[in-house]
Amino acid sequence: MAEFDRVWVNAALCTMASGMGSDGLGVVPDGAVAAKDGRIAWVGPRAVLPAHDAPVVDCGGSWVLPGLVDCHTHLVFGGNRAEEFQRRLSGVTYEQIAREGGGILSTVRATRGADEDALLAAALPRLDALLAEGVTTIEVKSGYGLELETERRMLRVARALPRERVATVVTSLLGAHAVPPEYKGRQGEYAELAAGMIAPLAAEGLVDAVDAFCDRIGFTPEETSAVFEAARHAGLPVKLHADQLSDLGGAALAARFGALSADHLEHASPEGLAAMAAAGTVAVLLPGATYFIREERRPDIAAMRRAGVRMAVATDMNPGSSPARSLLLMLNMACTLYRLTVEEALLGVTRHAAAALGLKDRGMLAPGMRCDLALYRIGAPAELCYWLGGNPCAGRVVAGRDA
Ligand code: NIG
Ligand code: FE
Repeated sequence: MAEFDRVWVNAALCTMASGMGSDGLGVVPDGAVAAKDGRIAWVGPRAVLPAHDAPVVDCGGSWVLPGLVDCHTHLVFGGNRAEEFQRRLSGVTYEQIAREGGGILSTVRATRGADEDALLAAALPRLDALLAEGVTTIEVKSGYGLELETERRMLRVARALPRERVATVVTSLLGAHAVPPEYKGRQGEYAELAAGMIAPLAAEGLVDAVDAFCDRIGFTPEETSAVFEAARHAGLPVKLHADQLSDLGGAALAARFGALSADHLEHASPEGLAAMAAAGTVAVLLPGATYFIREERRPDIAAMRRAGVRMAVATDMNPGSSPARSLLLMLNMACTLYRLTVEEALLGVTRHAAAALGLKDRGMLAPGMRCDLALYRIGAPAELCYWLGGNPCAGRVVAGRDA
């Protein structure tokens, strides 16, 4: 008799595991999943489920996927930028607003002025919207403090989220996001300060990875490299906002540092993408940002496919370039704006998104993986990419328990 804690049956599985099923989604039409100690102990066709005496959950014919992973968000921030959005409607661009001292810096002002409780209260409804769609793991960046104390406060709020809701939260320190007003004209000096934040905040257990914004309204490749050296010194993995508005060679730079991911990539060169493939750096696609700032360039998906770069898809949930509270909507945008296939898009919010966070224990339904599941009332996996709005999620399971 197999030793399981719980078994889910009457489900169509999208295992996202290669070697399962006949397509890239690893589909098992009439499947079963069994959990033991929070992990998947067995998964496969129900017809060959081993005998057991564990409680059984009838999924009512739902489709079951690995719990979704939103691998790039700026979930914690003060205020919002609806007013800036209105200005952009009359023709002012995202970049112009940033250069005038608005944009990221306007959110910095609001975030510096908000205490931990206020930041947490503002973040929770955004988190709830993502979780309701079947997300079970989310990355949260700092980057609206731009001084030690507020960066710390943002990361502490990110660490508080899993005490309030059932989900895994992974943090990234994004001190090198923009130059704060008090360092205007002294960008290099601020970049040094940002690099210097890594060690103390890491020592407090607040940092899982280090991120930076390398672009013509962000930091230079040299400044970014210095931040990454400091991360390496602290033993932390890196990721990069790369080549979003211009090609500064961010993709290749990320690859040189063995980054977990390089994100955005609208202007990345085929050479940069090939370097990423060789380094195993995941390309995180953020179609919400392309859409919301009306960027005309698209990431070079054909070059990514040719090079064999793994592609993830995330919300980039942030007040300026992508106020997106729906990862399912991002699936649609990835297909519609970037022409990803359904298979690529779904891998992008499961297996490849987990890889973008360096997490090897999730993103697939396979023995030994965490038993994080998302249940959907749909007729076929393509529906997850097809509908605009509405929420077909019928349940979440986190580490083997209903969430
Ligand atoms: O991922 N590119 C830089 N950072 C964010 C935008 C932040 C903001 O505008 O507040 C991004 O697009
Ligand atoms: Fe971002």
